[in-house]
Amino acid sequence: MTEVVSNGPEGPGEEHDATRRDFIHIAAGAAAVGAGAMVAWPLINQMNPAADTLALASIEFDLTKVLEGQQVVVLWQGKPVFVRYRTPEEIARARADDNASLPDPQTDAERVKPGNEQYLILVGACTHLGCVPTFGTGDYGGWFCPCHGSHYDVSGRIRKGPAPTNLVVPDYEFLSDTRVRIG
Ligand code: FES
Repeated sequence: MTEVVSNGPEGPGEEHDATRRDFIHIAAGAAAVGAGAMVAWPLINQMNPAADTLALASIEFDLTKVLEGQQVVVLWQGKPVFVRYRTPEEIARARADDNASLPDPQTDAERVKPGNEQYLILVGACTHLGCVPTFGTGDYGGWFCPCHGSHYDVSGRIRKGPAPTNLVVPDYEFLSDTRVRIG
């Protein structure tokens, strides 16, 4: 950062030190982000088809790769897709909220497949401006988009914030108990 950080009484040397401190902080932050990306990428990469198949209209996913209470992110047509294996508590909470005040009314049952209610599959893009929300934060136990503060519940329904609609459920079908085709 080359910005002057103060118009105060510091001399040029102090200004330089402040600039250097800024740089160190940013470098440390970048390293932390880089480490996070390195952890996340192998998981995504492992779950996906080869790069030359990413443009395909559909992908298949082995559901044994995701454990109860966890979520795996796969790429489909260049977009992140959340495959979440919900706990019984999450499902109960989602159903209990069917009668809540919902900006984009939809029951939980309308967002999952009968007999496979434990799996919630969502396009991982906030319906406001497309940031990727994170799970487990926010006010409703589901996803939170930090870009402008949209809160989604455990069914991926928008509950609070600027996002106008629920997280999108892509077209998908179960090929077996352990395999799903998305798209
Ligand atoms: Fe998510 Fe704006 S992009 S709240």
